[in-house]
Amino acid sequence: MLKLDVIVIGAGAAGLFCAAQAGQRGRSVLVLDHAKRIGGKILMSGGGRCNFTNMYASAENYLSANPHFCKSALSRYTQWDFIALVADYGITYHEKTLGQLFCDDSAKDILNLLLRECDKAKVQLRHPVEIQHIEKTADGFTLQTSQGLFGCESLVIATGGLSIPKLGASPFGYKVAEQFGLTVLPTRAGLVPFTLHEQDKQVLAELSGVALDASAAVDDTSFRENILFTHRGLSGPAVLQISSFWQPGQTVHFNLSPQHNLLDWLQAEQSSHPDAQLSTALSKLYPKRFVQIALEYFALTNKPLKQYQGKQLEQVASAFTDWALKPNGTEGYRTAEVTLGGVDTHQLSSKTMQANNVPGLYFIGEVMDVTGWLGGYNFQWAWSSGWVAGQVV
Ligand code: FDA
Repeated sequence: MLKLDVIVIGAGAAGLFCAAQAGQRGRSVLVLDHAKRIGGKILMSGGGRCNFTNMYASAENYLSANPHFCKSALSRYTQWDFIALVADYGITYHEKTLGQLFCDDSAKDILNLLLRECDKAKVQLRHPVEIQHIEKTADGFTLQTSQGLFGCESLVIATGGLSIPKLGASPFGYKVAEQFGLTVLPTRAGLVPFTLHEQDKQVLAELSGVALDASAAVDDTSFRENILFTHRGLSGPAVLQISSFWQPGQTVHFNLSPQHNLLDWLQAEQSSHPDAQLSTALSKLYPKRFVQIALEYFALTNKPLKQYQGKQLEQVASAFTDWALKPNGTEGYRTAEVTLGGVDTHQLSSKTMQANNVPGLYFIGEVMDVTGWLGGYNFQWAWSSGWVAGQVV
């Protein structure tokens, strides 16, 4: 049996970063992954440019049943620490919007950074390898795998969530948590496009490719960014953000005119261009194709502006500014960027990520019930949680 100080299961963002930290402290570290090709999510992230952190990352940008849990790790290894590391590697980057930092060149730069950090720390990496069985021993853990038996003092579970199964996602981490008596909170897809009921889809699918500045709200939470009509439903950053707050059956409220008071604007148009058709006026704000289909979808009559009574103009404005849509569902884990829920953090130390009742067992990254907004927050959680565990394993 090969014995090591630390075994990390999962060679994703959190696992590689944690392994490098532990290795740099002089610990012998082995990372195991069942994927043929590692780093798939990193390479795919941010449209191939990896939105590796967010300048404004703080606990408010994360969803969790235990909202204070992430504070300690985020404050001990901050976005500025990771930005400094990126700069040390000579990787150039830019802010796209809202504090979101992307590589100028390619997400490969981030994967190479992680692999070089592991290399410097003499971390061993084996994949593809199947982990068949884990057992607790008096001084650590033994792992039965497709490459033989391994032993370790500290075992780190960094197997992520359920999103994008074709990139290697599996429920492995949840099963390990349950094996050791930890609770796993119900999981669901987050940062994911909405699908539509048939009657909505029939009309709106024609808008596939149209993007609009809008705000999307569920209860008291709202996000203003683009929404994108697709042939399956609705996507775009504002939709992905609100999807993490949406529960099946809930209505989403869209304001398709977040930049104007639409009623004031329509009244001004009515005074200045009384003979213009409603569709002509609205085409100053929206793509023509959208206006045509939106009038049909909202069952609004198209006629010269002067023919609209005050109440009718209010109806037009409110159709566009309080569009209440009940999605049919989401596209699910197939396209979701993250998994909400997971290992209950009430049973972990927020300082080290160690399971309170299982000395030597750690959970880091997306496998636990800490889920960031869209915009680099999820990678920051992988770095912060991986780093704090890496100091003690
Ligand atoms: P991650 O999923 O990265 O790694 C888990 C590893 O465990 C994988 O290598 C997997 O093969 C391995 N594994 C799973 N089951 C196993 C088993 N049974 N045995 C052995 N190994 C196993 N976030 C962000 O901040 N900015 C962004 O730009 C994006 N973009 C983005 C795009 C897309 C398409 C997706 C799907 C996701 C994003 N994200 C993102 C989210 C981000 O990628 C995600 O939160 C982190 O990769 C999570 O890191 P982890 O290391 O926890 O899991």
